[in-house]
Amino acid sequence: MPIDFNSATKLIMLTTDTTTYQMKVDPYGYLIHLYYGARTSGDMSYLVTYADRSGMCGCPYDVHDRTYSLDVLPQEFPFQGSGDMRSPLLVVRDAEGAFGCDLRYVGHTISNGMFSLPGLPAVYSEEDDEAQSLSVQLRDERLGLEVELLYGVLPHFDVITRALIVTNAGNASVTVERLQSACLDFVHGDLDVMTFNGRHAMERRPDRHRIGHGSFSVGSRRGMSSNQYSPFMIVCDHAATEFNGRAWAMNYVYSGGFEAEVERDQYNQVRVQMGLSDDRFSYPLNPGERLVAPEVIMAYSHEGIGRISNIMHRCIRKRVCRGYWRDRRRPVLVNSWEAMHFNFNGDSLLDLAKTAADLGIELFVMDDGWFAERDNDICSLGDWRVNEKKLGRSLAELADQINDLGLKFGIWVEPEMISEDSDLYRAHPDWVLALPGKAPTLGRDQLVLDLSRVDVRDNLFEQLCGILDQAHIEYVKWDYNRCITDAYSRTTTDQGKVLYDYMIGVYDLLERLIKRYPKVLFEGCSAGGGRYDAGMMYYTPQIWTSDNTDADNRLTIQYGSSFGFPLSVMGAHVSACPNEINNRTVPLTTRGHVAMAGGSFGYELDLNELPGRAFDHIRRQISLYHEIENIVCEGELYRLSSPMDDDVCAWENVLEDGSEAIMTAVVLKVEGYAQANYVTLRGLTPGANYRELTTGVVYPANALMDMGMPLPVNTEMYASYLYRFERVEG
Ligand code: DGJ
Repeated sequence: MPIDFNSATKLIMLTTDTTTYQMKVDPYGYLIHLYYGARTSGDMSYLVTYADRSGMCGCPYDVHDRTYSLDVLPQEFPFQGSGDMRSPLLVVRDAEGAFGCDLRYVGHTISNGMFSLPGLPAVYSEEDDEAQSLSVQLRDERLGLEVELLYGVLPHFDVITRALIVTNAGNASVTVERLQSACLDFVHGDLDVMTFNGRHAMERRPDRHRIGHGSFSVGSRRGMSSNQYSPFMIVCDHAATEFNGRAWAMNYVYSGGFEAEVERDQYNQVRVQMGLSDDRFSYPLNPGERLVAPEVIMAYSHEGIGRISNIMHRCIRKRVCRGYWRDRRRPVLVNSWEAMHFNFNGDSLLDLAKTAADLGIELFVMDDGWFAERDNDICSLGDWRVNEKKLGRSLAELADQINDLGLKFGIWVEPEMISEDSDLYRAHPDWVLALPGKAPTLGRDQLVLDLSRVDVRDNLFEQLCGILDQAHIEYVKWDYNRCITDAYSRTTTDQGKVLYDYMIGVYDLLERLIKRYPKVLFEGCSAGGGRYDAGMMYYTPQIWTSDNTDADNRLTIQYGSSFGFPLSVMGAHVSACPNEINNRTVPLTTRGHVAMAGGSFGYELDLNELPGRAFDHIRRQISLYHEIENIVCEGELYRLSSPMDDDVCAWENVLEDGSEAIMTAVVLKVEGYAQANYVTLRGLTPGANYRELTTGVVYPANALMDMGMPLPVNTEMYASYLYRFERVEG
């Protein structure tokens, strides 16, 4: 069974296909973390050592044993007040304002299927017998505080997830001041941490360094997971590589502010944790109320970091993404933004759509600028009514004309925002998040609507349904272009709840919409990739990865994004050169190859500005994409080299059964009379032969995976090569 409890030893063991996770209820009712690593059996209690810690604190009053210190022992759920002075997962204050609690084990239950979280996205199971859930109940007698630790085990996906629910079962109010969802305590190890950092238009660049003493954290205080830091973190052996060594990962299923922390303590032990940002967080619970900590997906690999990515890819693609589009191939799209920005009318859109249809594109997306007086970005957010004058026709007529060309039709919205210059703001100035008496901070000249309020959400739901019901709309791009600075809601006196309740409100609105329009493809977006997280992926099975469409920069952005998130979600488009963000020119072939690394492929340029000869090229690009998209989306990814460190950036996608593979390589450095670059492949069936489909050459898999294959010697900067391999019998 995936979850096992030994009543004699009080050992709780979670098992997946290749991993084991263990914790133990000790004689004093504390939960000691024992192990998360390669699959094994037996009791790992031997890993925990006890010695006189009388110079330390951390010995509970009823223990009277100087070799017992919670300040040192590896813990499953460290909370403030136990004497553990490392960074806790939970901090509470009682009604008098005093800090501290004492949570002890009272029981547990095991059930089939994955747990679900009220109001929050979570990994799900399809069949009850594919997963098991564990609920461990802890209780603080003084406060009447109950904590339910939740674990979900999906054995064949090789993931274990964690979340928790804090309930005030006492008689007085309790305030939650810090709430993290998961931690891993390592009793020893020379470990590195990898985080994914960036900014608008340059998201998720990997950053790796050794975990030293003290604590290191990344996170977001922006009310969104953010362009700056990704809510995904890897901890690995200092010597681990893509293909070797041990690695652990945490992926937060939440789109608001977060904190991911590593801490090396006085005994060289390491604590890794992930959860809500403490920033402007202070959540009072009245008697009977509860607070749910979002889920963290955990993975372990003893075959390097690459395997962590493939575990995350499969889990998010199959058990976080949902609905009609989860397993369907995504239409190749053209988006009007980089083609026209706000400067379009119905006729120019149709001109673009005609060319798109002629080239084999399948979906036309009308981006920002189609509603109210929106001819620039300083007005009209909140007024979701069609600007028929600008379009020269109704939305239904435009959609029909685009459908008549053989294209699906989609629109852009940014529902969470409001412009001061809008009818909605004039009617409801109190609907924004803003501090009374303080001029609000602007971002892109817009304010954030208070989605913690039901009336605001109801209004948006009605407005959006009003748009989606009036035309044949099959796709919606859901944008979000600023962070939350003034987190003040008029409807509560507890402002420390607002950022969390805001996210619950966003999820509620999205849930209502995807339920009502189950076949509409929702694409997430937040100034590019500012909410590129597993929480949003529960609602939007594809996300615009970055506003930066330059193929060179995209290599790094997509490389970094691929560590934690599946390629099927990755929106990647071919755009014009010189690129509008960094002025770089990259060949069309390379722009295509780089965009084909994502499972949501498309174009984002004025196709009518292209020289005629580019048209055949694009037709070939699209048909190539259709031939390989299943390998991109469903295959395993191998990052063969790095766009940040290597002369060639190469990656490979291999179907799980090894029958087909693609290897793509982009040249990032050229020298005079240089030696050929060799690329070593991975993941092919050992001993088999593979035919490269363009040249017909047959290669032995063992040689490709040992000495590799040379790229053309006479190359040039940004040249790219895409090889398709098929296993041949015999
Ligand atoms: C930011 C997005 O990332 C862009 O793709 C585009 O939709 C603009 N917003 C429109 O305002």
